[in-house]
Amino acid sequence: MKLILLGPPGAGKGTHARILSEKYHAPHLATGEILRQQIREKTPLGRKAKDIIEKGGLVPDQIVNAMMFQVMGRIGTEGGFILDGFPRTLGQAEALEDFLAEEKTKPDTVLNFQTSEKVIIDRLSGRRVCPKCGANYHIRNIPPKKAGICDSCGEKLTQRKDDEPETIKHRLRMYESETKPLIDFYAKRNLLKDVPGDYDVPELQAELASFFDELKLVK
Ligand code: AP5
Repeated sequence: MKLILLGPPGAGKGTHARILSEKYHAPHLATGEILRQQIREKTPLGRKAKDIIEKGGLVPDQIVNAMMFQVMGRIGTEGGFILDGFPRTLGQAEALEDFLAEEKTKPDTVLNFQTSEKVIIDRLSGRRVCPKCGANYHIRNIPPKKAGICDSCGEKLTQRKDDEPETIKHRLRMYESETKPLIDFYAKRNLLKDVPGDYDVPELQAELASFFDELKLVK
């Protein structure tokens, strides 16, 4: 399965990507997670990205492309991929197209999460993350078993710095100006599938399963 997940911040890309990756055994590659890992490890890349991410800006194409193609080159594309948060600009989309052409492959489909602003703001302000293992929760929709504690590793949950109200607004503006044009880019290539991002997780997973059946993506 070769998927690209497109959509505004808080659309549900990460949540669904993690489920799909487990269900269909395709590697989940999340640029945001990879960048946050670099920040935690205080690598040169992480130091460059930290300020940009915390302010809700976009890390330059050159850096993100090199990082992603290194990861994809290392694990290969034969086992599929679920790209979450990449590409996010036209420059990244063009570079990805060239990279995949060299690998003699292309995405099966691009899922375009259509999620309303009201839902996005509610999801991001209620999101809690585990600083140790990266697990994601929502205080009401997807709560941990014990309030404020990670189910997987027992660490105390925190709020992402870029989930503060002013930063969310900036991320939404960046989405509008930089990422939204990718909808046209993939529609012209007949790869775009709009999905209702406001749905509950099980409801949207059921829709995706029947869509993948139609596409004969799952054997
Ligand atoms: P990244 O981590 O990718 O952030 P994002 O795209 O802004 O996406 P989010 O993680 O906020 O949202 P999501 O759509 O994954 O939603 P989620 O499933 O978590 O990137 C962070 C930063 O890194 C960027 O701002 C940028 O600076 C940099 N960066 C990353 N990629 C880059 C690139 N390609 N180029 C340049 N810079 C880049 O859901 C949100 C919450 O809602 C969660 O709490 C979840 O539990 C809950 N939830 C999700 N779905 C549902 C549902 N259906 N029902 C109820 N609750 C739900």
